[in-house]
Amino acid sequence: MLLLQPLMGLLLISLAHGGYCPILFSPVDVVVEYGDSFSVNCSSTDKTHQFGLKWEGYDTMENTEEIFRSVDVTDWEMKLTCYMYSNETQCSQDLPVTIYKTPDSVSISIVDHSGPMIEGKRYELQCDVHDVAPVQDLTVKWYKGQTLLNQTTFTDASKTPVNETTTLLIRPDRADDGAQYRCEAVLELGAEGPQYPIESLETLSAEVHYKPKHFNSIETIIKNDEVTLNCTVKANPAPTYTWHSEHLKEEISSSVLQSSTVLLSPGNYTCTTTNSLGSDSKVFIIKSTESQCPIQLIPRRAVVRYGDDVSADCKTSVPHKGMGWEASEGAVPMTRDSLITWRVSNLIEWDIQPFCFINHEEQCQVELPVTIYKTPDSVSISIVDHSGPMIEGKQYELQCDVHDVAPVQDLTVKWYKGQTLLNQTTFTDASKTPVNETTRLLIRPDRADDGAQYRCEAVLELGAEGPQPPPKETSDPLNITVYYASKITFCNSWSPLTGTSLDSHPLNLYSVVGNPRPDISWRHKASSVNSSMPLTKFDSGQYEIIASNDHGDFNCSINITVEYPPELNCSESYEVKEKTFFKFPCIADGLPKPKFSFYKNGKIIQRDFYPNWTDSGRYQLIAHNQHGTINSTFTINILHAPVFYVSQQNFVVGEDSNITLECTSTGNPEPEMWWSLKNKNISTGRRHITLNIERATSSNAGVYTCSATNTFGRKDKSFVVEIRDDSRNYFPIVALVLGLLVLILLIVISLWVRKNTTGLYEVGTVSGAV
Ligand SMILES: *[C@@H]1O[C@H](CO)[C@@H](O)[C@H](O)[C@H]1NC(C)=O
Ligand SMILES: *[C@@H]1O[C@H](CO)[C@@H](O)[C@H](O)[C@H]1NC(C)=O
Ligand SMILES: *[C@@H]1O[C@H](CO)[C@@H](O)[C@H](O)[C@H]1NC(C)=O
Ligand SMILES: *[C@@H]1O[C@H](CO)[C@@H](O)[C@H](O)[C@H]1NC(C)=O
Ligand SMILES: *[C@@H]1O[C@H](CO)[C@@H](O)[C@H](O)[C@H]1NC(C)=O
Ligand SMILES: *[C@@H]1O[C@H](CO)[C@@H](O)[C@H](O)[C@H]1NC(C)=O
Ligand SMILES: *[C@@H]1O[C@H](CO)[C@@H](O)[C@H](O)[C@H]1NC(C)=O
Ligand SMILES: *[C@@H]1O[C@H](CO)[C@@H](O)[C@H](O)[C@H]1NC(C)=O
Ligand SMILES: *[C@@H]1O[C@H](CO)[C@@H](O)[C@H](O)[C@H]1NC(C)=O
Ligand SMILES: *[C@@H]1O[C@H](CO)[C@@H](O)[C@H](O)[C@H]1NC(C)=O
Ligand SMILES: *[C@@H]1O[C@H](CO)[C@@H](O)[C@H](O)[C@H]1NC(C)=O
Repeated sequence: MLLLQPLMGLLLISLAHGGYCPILFSPVDVVVEYGDSFSVNCSSTDKTHQFGLKWEGYDTMENTEEIFRSVDVTDWEMKLTCYMYSNETQCSQDLPVTIYKTPDSVSISIVDHSGPMIEGKRYELQCDVHDVAPVQDLTVKWYKGQTLLNQTTFTDASKTPVNETTTLLIRPDRADDGAQYRCEAVLELGAEGPQYPIESLETLSAEVHYKPKHFNSIETIIKNDEVTLNCTVKANPAPTYTWHSEHLKEEISSSVLQSSTVLLSPGNYTCTTTNSLGSDSKVFIIKSTESQCPIQLIPRRAVVRYGDDVSADCKTSVPHKGMGWEASEGAVPMTRDSLITWRVSNLIEWDIQPFCFINHEEQCQVELPVTIYKTPDSVSISIVDHSGPMIEGKQYELQCDVHDVAPVQDLTVKWYKGQTLLNQTTFTDASKTPVNETTRLLIRPDRADDGAQYRCEAVLELGAEGPQPPPKETSDPLNITVYYASKITFCNSWSPLTGTSLDSHPLNLYSVVGNPRPDISWRHKASSVNSSMPLTKFDSGQYEIIASNDHGDFNCSINITVEYPPELNCSESYEVKEKTFFKFPCIADGLPKPKFSFYKNGKIIQRDFYPNWTDSGRYQLIAHNQHGTINSTFTINILHAPVFYVSQQNFVVGEDSNITLECTSTGNPEPEMWWSLKNKNISTGRRHITLNIERATSSNAGVYTCSATNTFGRKDKSFVVEIRDDSRNYFPIVALVLGLLVLILLIVISLWVRKNTTGLYEVGTVSGAV
């Protein structure tokens, strides 16, 4: 059974308590597409009291644990409210509802422009998003290919669908020719919202016009059998090419010159590339390196791992008297063949220098460069002259040791922090045999480097003839610990509940940084505070929080307001004069400042009022804030002047009758009462006084007064007593009857006299006179 009727409850909603209402929705909030439906339960977390719940617009109140509602979303401004009524609280809560609509369309265009763009000029792209809600959750993103260029959010508070237009300024360059621009509308509504962005229907494919530009304006080519001068360069619109040279009989229009089609003697060849936006030139210099010796080595250079096998062919196309390989290993004696092969199956000689010779017109020879490599036995990383954690801001030296590697001139030692390349070292030492190398890296770690991983890597870059990818060895990672000074990243004010200790301040957990973990201490009013002591309501004020470790202290000021549940101090009873302003009597406290409800007989009433004399009774005051509810019951005693109750006041009786005059009054304090006649006191009493007149005579007739008085006033009430005479005098009636008879006689006589004296009056006139 509910204590309060629904109607009464509705009346009380306006008096609902501030922010606090123990209503829980499931789900907690709703994100729903316009036109869809959802359902929600409303329940109360406060199961300690009887309560009833009610959805707005539904007449019936239910006192079940949960009430259910299913809603079709057809109103953008929809509001759904659940009310709770208990014998101690009445309040309501709005369900947070977000209604969304995905855009009808998203389209991209160029503002005031059509056709290709020109490199370096500014253009404006426009994205139109049609019919989307709510706009404050909308993000419009611009992309070029996969790259996010910019994004826009909106602050408009509108709940209904809107159209939005955003623009993006671009200054395209040659790399942007063919780039795909698009925009995307995303409604960021969390897990319950739409999960995919709505992309613009078509992408905008940028055509950018730009003039030709060569990377190098001069290129030198060593002439071999075949020469290709390739002047091809990108430009839009497509460029035309012209070649000039003292060695060319005429201009040639082609992007490429090849010695297979044109005779290209050593010298300078200038290529000019032109399109509608401009032109650029490039000079090719052909130099001759005609070998004196008519033999060819395949490969021209050998790269071999120490201990592996190696081979190279020596070939000629000219007639000769003999050719051969000269080498400390694998030498081939002179022969008449035109293809001979040098081969070693297990190359362990670091300093081998093979060459092929031929007896042509005279003897000549070509050397085969041989690179013998050996990957390192080990690569290791260490800290120079230091162990243990590092200190922020100080300088340290890391060392990388590479053992037994060859050839050192092809070695690169790379330093990494995580995936980031920090530096690299190459070596100029000409040694061909394995060496040990040590490189060092200076670092000055900061707090972000705490936990960072350093490593070094040895790579042998052996060129195109070498193994692919180049062989490399990596050290074990070196994890570093960095000690750094304390810091507090934010200092907000804090409002804990009384009984909470400073140790549970959330700042301690999240925003105090330092390595090692700083110690936290507190100061208040210039002295230190025991942070595990529970705070009392008298402890509010400015506090200083100090974070300290060996590497530095940090402090900041925090305003702490200790909140506490309501407190009420009421007397057992209060006395108040009627019709004087009654002010809420108890001493009350609480933080946040409590809200009060004042009840009499279970009905809420104004806290300050002008009481009537009938308002005495028991009252209840309830104080509430988010930390609790307290009540106090007390008596209010209304003091007032006497008031008479209704009783018979007029008495008309015959002689010898018995009369009883009754007079009753109330008043606070209880009034004193008395009867008087003609200012003479007859009897006195309290509350209810009676006056008995036995066998009344005419001497008892008169006006009796009942009086009541107390400290707040005096009231009088008059009683009239008449005594009737039984020997009645009929003279007045007889006189009246005789009078009337005389009057009628006189009228009759006068009419009769008039008729006989004139007799000329017309009938109508006569009747009119009658
Ligand atoms: C509402 O409550 C009922 C009964 O407790 C439960 O079956 C239902 O799943 C709840 N619905 C939601 C949306 O929480
Ligand atoms: C409200 O209801 C609860 C639970 O039935 C009861 O313990 C409490 O005394 C009631 N309070 C009042 C003011 O009637
Ligand atoms: C992104 O757009 C905003 C205006 O929408 C502009 O103020 C800002 O400069 C732009 N940022 C970039 C990197 O283009
Ligand atoms: C959005 O644009 C469409 C088409 O241009 C128009 O029909 C509609 O009324 C616009 N909506 C708003 C909210 O301006
Ligand atoms: C010339 O160079 C371009 C690219 O720079 C290349 O696509 C083209 O195939 C080359 N032409 C010849 C004949 O090598
Ligand atoms: C890389 O190391 C070389 C010495 O090996 C040094 O001269 C150079 O300053 C370093 N560069 C950086 C960016 O640390
Ligand atoms: C390289 O170091 C190792 C171990 O320290 C040593 O045995 C070896 O002789 C060194 N090699 C050279 C070439 O110094
Ligand atoms: C701090 O207060 C806690 C709890 O009141 C107490 O146990 C502890 O001994 C106090 N510490 C100091 C240093 O006074
Ligand atoms: C707090 O910091 C200020 C300035 O950094 C310093 O002057 C003050 O002494 C510090 N207070 C404490 C208690 O460490
Ligand atoms: C009033 O307070 C008493 C205890 O102080 C509690 O038992 C009672 O339920 C409270 N009544 C209301 C209506 O809050
Ligand atoms: C009548 O009695 C009342 C109360 O005892 C007293 O106040 C009042 O003065 C008396 N009046 C006369 C006329 O004696």
